[in-house]
Amino acid sequence: MKTNFDRNFRVYRPTVAEISLPALSFNLRKIKKTVGDKTRVLFVVKANAYGHGAVAAAVFTEKEKLAWGYGVSSVEEGLTLRGAGVRSPVLVLGSLYPFESFVSAIHAGLTLTISSVEAARQAVSASKRLGKKALCHVKLETGMGRIGARKPSVIKIFEELNGSKTAVAEGLYTHLSSADTDPEFTARQLEYFSQTAAELEKDGRGALVKHTANSFAALNYPQSRWDMVRVGLAAYGCMDGFKPVLALKTRIVFIKTVREGAYISYDKSFKAPGLMKIATLPIGYGDGYTRALSNKADILVGGRRCRVLGNITMDMLMIDVSQVKEAAVGDEAVLIGRQGKEEITARELAAKALTIPYEITTLLSSRVPRVV
Ligand SMILES: Cc1ncc(COP(=O)(O)O)c(C=O)c1O
Repeated sequence: MKTNFDRNFRVYRPTVAEISLPALSFNLRKIKKTVGDKTRVLFVVKANAYGHGAVAAAVFTEKEKLAWGYGVSSVEEGLTLRGAGVRSPVLVLGSLYPFESFVSAIHAGLTLTISSVEAARQAVSASKRLGKKALCHVKLETGMGRIGARKPSVIKIFEELNGSKTAVAEGLYTHLSSADTDPEFTARQLEYFSQTAAELEKDGRGALVKHTANSFAALNYPQSRWDMVRVGLAAYGCMDGFKPVLALKTRIVFIKTVREGAYISYDKSFKAPGLMKIATLPIGYGDGYTRALSNKADILVGGRRCRVLGNITMDMLMIDVSQVKEAAVGDEAVLIGRQGKEEITARELAAKALTIPYEITTLLSSRVPRVV
């Protein structure tokens, strides 16, 4: 068993996130097939690969040539990949401030996102100081309202970068805010992007690496693919037609039978309506299994769905195993994944917790070993 923890002691607690490399490989191959050979795939591994473990995911996919490069959120995340030996392009999607981080980023050969004229100047000066090329992708604001510059500033940013000998304005990109919910707004974002790219390229600066698509857009809007797609969710198998990469599992550590009227968990948040068999699992919100799932989520034991009873506590939660007569201490419990004919997905949990699947997996804390 390999974990991403550098441990010199045995792990006794049975709570783990199992990461399926075959599923990851299947998903990335399917994405590559869908977008075609000419479109590069940037595998988004920010936030520890949405909780899946960024180093293992990047090292494996680089070895298998499943991605052209990687998208991370911060310079620190990029340096972690470089430290693990990842040599492919790494685009830092959020490298904005403090500007002194540009020096480390350029030194490690990370690609910077440039969203302002000031950032462009800083990138030029850092690359001059280091005597090393600064690869830059410029972010266009088209309706996400997060980071990025509008067309007039983007033109100035390109002038600034192209006027230097050390900075390379390699790409132009934007982020679609509503690809899966609003096709008209998405079309408007793409139109503004297309106009801006045409204007920049007609200035004789040569072809840019253009990219706009997240998973949903990459799969559903061919016109959003341009030269590269930036995919996370589909690669992790949290979309229809893809295989879930992460399974969250633990084992029953305690079992009891309670009578009608017995209370379960903090604030008496569940009251037994009759005789019940109840199991305790060693996982709680301290592991990132959100408290919003209290009294709502199902967990699989013996191939059957067992309801979470009462408030999820920091380290443990209780489930109803009354219908699983044979349930005993040591039995496997599946919180995300398959057991027998039943399956619980991150999407199901997200709907119950009133959130999105990204948050369900990203929340999983460092206390949960990722087992590859
Ligand atoms: C800038 C950017 N590009 C691409 C992605 C990947 O999105 P998805 O996981 O939906 O494929 C994200 C994720 O939030 C992002 O922030």
